[in-house]
Amino acid sequence: MSERGRFAGKVVLISGGASGIGAAAARGFVDGGAKVVLGDLQVAKGEAAAAALGANALFVQLDVTQEASWAAAVAAAQARFAALTTVVNSAGISVPANIEDETLEGFHRTMSINLDGTFLGCKAAVAALKGGKGGAIVNIASTLGVRSGSIFPSYSASKGAVRLLTRSVALHCAEQRYDIRVNAIMPGAIHTEMVEGYIAAGQAAGATRDDVINGFAQGHPLKRLGKPQEAAAAILFLASDEAAFITGADLPVDGGFLA
Ligand SMILES: NC(=O)c1ccc[n+]([C@@H]2O[C@H](COP(=O)([O-])OP(=O)(O)OC[C@H]3O[C@@H](n4cnc5c(N)ncnc54)[C@H](O)[C@@H]3O)[C@@H](O)[C@H]2O)c1
Repeated sequence: MSERGRFAGKVVLISGGASGIGAAAARGFVDGGAKVVLGDLQVAKGEAAAAALGANALFVQLDVTQEASWAAAVAAAQARFAALTTVVNSAGISVPANIEDETLEGFHRTMSINLDGTFLGCKAAVAALKGGKGGAIVNIASTLGVRSGSIFPSYSASKGAVRLLTRSVALHCAEQRYDIRVNAIMPGAIHTEMVEGYIAAGQAAGATRDDVINGFAQGHPLKRLGKPQEAAAAILFLASDEAAFITGADLPVDGGFLA
């Protein structure tokens, strides 16, 4: 199969598609012949990302924490591209704070975007994809949903939950014979705006930019940060027909972090 046709006929809705891993996945899907809808809170950035992808991409404003916002995004995808086959739940935040510093409000905000947002994305996806010609959902968990660190109580709780949410939705779709596969990836440190936030926080605390980057790199056996395209490649694989017998999986993309 030519690379051009790998995603021919697919229409992909990507939450968090304006930035980082979601934006890199959007590029990969379009290059493979898919139509893509980028859903994000960031309007200017999302519109620019969609414009750069050309006529096969559309931006819609999406707040993943709002069920009505998901319904509108799905409707926009179906109206523009006459179908929806694939949903990638990439919207997320990471605000480091240990259990003593984290507030209940902060915990709820992280859970709302990372977990409620993925729950609502799965719910909207199953409703839209069932009865179609086969579909796929890819969620973005994290290595920090398996191992944690002292500054990640909220983030790790949300990402551990995304892993098991993914399995439950996968089993339901299999039981119902919906022909919808549901998988997750677990990225290690991937150099996106999210990691730039950690770098800025490290610098504010007196570290150099290189100190922070090297600190992340040293935690990974491959001794570097991942690239957004490297996380996106795993999303593309799980969404593709090459992964036809894979459902309920969570695939590390982590330079050996979990090994
Ligand atoms: N970068 C990493 O090291 C890393 C590691 C593991 C997992 N992840 C996960 O990968 C996913 C993508 O992260 P990234 O690194 O590309 O970060 P990013 O900050 O570049 O992108 C995240 C996007 O989500 C959007 N977003 C936030 N809240 C939203 C909401 N309520 N509704 C819609 N969109 C919203 C942001 O506007 C942003 O465009 C996240 O789920 C993140 O937790 C990232």
